[in-house]
Amino acid sequence: MQHLITPNDFTNKEIKVLFEDARLFQDLQSNNLLNGKLIVTLFFENSTRTRSSFEIAAKRLGAAVVNLEVQTSSTKKGETVEDTVANLNAMKPDAIIIRHSECGLPASLIEYVDCPILNAGDGKNAHPTQALLDLFTITEYFNGKIKGKNIAIVGDISNSRVASSNLELLPRFGLNPILVSPTRYQVKSKFKTTTNLQKIIDDLDIIMSLRVQHERHDSNTLVQDLEKEKQEYAKKYCITKKLLKDKDILVLHPGPVNRNIDISNEVLLDKRSKVLEQVANGVAVRMAILKKLILQ
Ligand code: NCD
Repeated sequence: MQHLITPNDFTNKEIKVLFEDARLFQDLQSNNLLNGKLIVTLFFENSTRTRSSFEIAAKRLGAAVVNLEVQTSSTKKGETVEDTVANLNAMKPDAIIIRHSECGLPASLIEYVDCPILNAGDGKNAHPTQALLDLFTITEYFNGKIKGKNIAIVGDISNSRVASSNLELLPRFGLNPILVSPTRYQVKSKFKTTTNLQKIIDDLDIIMSLRVQHERHDSNTLVQDLEKEKQEYAKKYCITKKLLKDKDILVLHPGPVNRNIDISNEVLLDKRSKVLEQVANGVAVRMAILKKLILQ
């Protein structure tokens, strides 16, 4: 049985086949490939896009979906996540999708289930479906010619599972990541790292902007200091028209976007911004992933 915990669970060949399927699903029309199948989602962390994207993908394939409301579930009565998952597994679902703040938790659940586990984000560790939909969006935009393209990943690299999964996946397909962030959000990395976005802008084909994950930082920061920190950050790292000028650069963001801090309102309306295409592609890619893992 195959699970999806990190992008490395799929080979390049498997990803190419997956993208062929995603292309067929790109119109997001319904079919009955997963009729009679049942998928459980368990989101212990907030989510707008990922949760609804998985649910819509499952329903477009004809599967039924049970969303466990974790706020009112028995984990609130002291049951461990392992026991919760073992109990859900006893009801014979065809896949379990889980998001949790603890790094490594989805991987540790594999031994408790008889169906595929899909990691929808574990702390700052991994977010494989996001990285796959990002790669798909990039591949579509450049008509498959992505080898050697330079991508700046801009933001809170140290706390971002989107960054870690993309850094695992994109170089496998020949993309060159450049990590751009204030020193406090940097990580030890084999990739080029800089604090100065302006200085490298001429070399870029793609910018992937990321939100600063304040919820993963020290919660003692005063509100007014936080506001000041955001404005200071925006001055150097917000993706603006002034920065892009007329350069042909693809602008991506996994969402949620902090407007005028991550990306300016103006750039979000610009045709170089493909943020909503990422969302649409996210459903198509997740349809392909669910089909692959459930019908394997
Ligand atoms: C991200 C996440 O939750 O990892 N969003 C997403 O899934 N599309 C990024 C974030 O929270 O900033």
